[in-house]
Amino acid sequence: MKELRVAMVGYGFMGRAHSNAYKRLNDFFPLQHRPVLKVACGRNAEKTRTFAKVWGYERVEPDWQKAVEAADVDLVDICTPNDTHMEIAIAAARAGKMVLCEKPLARNVAEAETMVEVIEKAGVPNMVWYNYRRVPAITLAKQLIDEGRIGKPFHYRGNFLQDWTISPEVPQGGAGLWRLDVQAAGSGVTGDLLAHNIDAAHYLNGPITRVVAKAETFVKERKHVLTGKVEPVGIDDACLFIAEFANGSLGLFEATRYARGHKALKTLELNGSDGSLKFDLEEMEYLDYFEYKSESHVRGWRRIHVTNSEHPYMDRYWVPGLVIGYEHSFINALADFVKGIETGVPVQPDFRNALQTQKVCEAVLTSAREGRWVETGATA
Ligand SMILES: NC(=O)c1ccc[n+]([C@@H]2O[C@H](COP(=O)([O-])OP(=O)(O)OC[C@H]3O[C@@H](n4cnc5c(N)ncnc54)[C@H](O)[C@@H]3O)[C@@H](O)[C@H]2O)c1
Repeated sequence: MKELRVAMVGYGFMGRAHSNAYKRLNDFFPLQHRPVLKVACGRNAEKTRTFAKVWGYERVEPDWQKAVEAADVDLVDICTPNDTHMEIAIAAARAGKMVLCEKPLARNVAEAETMVEVIEKAGVPNMVWYNYRRVPAITLAKQLIDEGRIGKPFHYRGNFLQDWTISPEVPQGGAGLWRLDVQAAGSGVTGDLLAHNIDAAHYLNGPITRVVAKAETFVKERKHVLTGKVEPVGIDDACLFIAEFANGSLGLFEATRYARGHKALKTLELNGSDGSLKFDLEEMEYLDYFEYKSESHVRGWRRIHVTNSEHPYMDRYWVPGLVIGYEHSFINALADFVKGIETGVPVQPDFRNALQTQKVCEAVLTSAREGRWVETGATA
């Protein structure tokens, strides 16, 4: 087996989710490559050492520049806050490494375009971790759409609702709350949550051509962790938008961190002339499907328990009826990436594909600011 020597930049939430994927990949997927956890890199030396020990990285490197250029590294995985993605990805690509980057690709379109230019010039394999495409129920939804089962699409709905920033006492910035600091995150729920919904919508329903949005910052000032001062909040706390798709259907999207009672209510629905599909992350092993062509006395919603061996990815796991979880979406994504290297067929979403999601995010934020329809650059 060929080694795939990994430098992991970031030991937080995604650093752990991805490390798990590297460790479990070969247990479930027959591939010619075997990930080797070579270098762990993070800002806090003590925490990086602990992370490396727990997950089994061979060594620790406090300086990400050294980690991405190391001769014994083949692949750089970027699991750091959004303001660092561009610099690390560019350095890694120029060093000839494969680059896997967390979403959103960057803070804005200008950064994302630079990244695409450099990565394509370097010609290195790359992927952005829009992992929800690899939840078997969502991959199955794509299969049913491609089989023509929902007919002509009319409506797409995507929500992502959380409730963790309602208190004005929650500060902004620093290592733990960089998502609330516009400098580090680029935007609020648009880049953090809507980006996932936009990627899934592109995957299932094709390009979004124009949008009109309303965003709100409910808490206007928060103490900044780094300065200790109360500072204006620059992120969007909630964002809703209407979209037109190239295929003529209409989209309705909502993301917020102010939906009391919801931790990660991520739902999507697609309605077409011949059927509908519904997904809810809180019951991620199910896909709901309405088939119009059934005889009318038995017509109705059916709940597909997506655990059979003929369902996407499920032949790699347990017996029918037994479920897999959130972490497996990362293992599945990694398996597809490695398969892409082995077959020479690049996996999606790559940096260029993720740039289109970034363009929709930026169009949404521009629309929210200027109160008008904004084109995304994609055409019918
Ligand atoms: N795919 C998903 O579903 C998903 C879920 C959560 C987060 N994310 C994305 O993953 C990225 C990381 O998010 P997270 O939740 O893991 O964050 P986190 O705060 O849990 O971890 C961030 C890590 O980055 C490290 N870091 C920050 N600046 C650094 C620097 N200059 N050099 C080296 N290390 C540095 C920190 O030490 C920390 O280990 C973000 O882009 C986020 O949007 C994606």
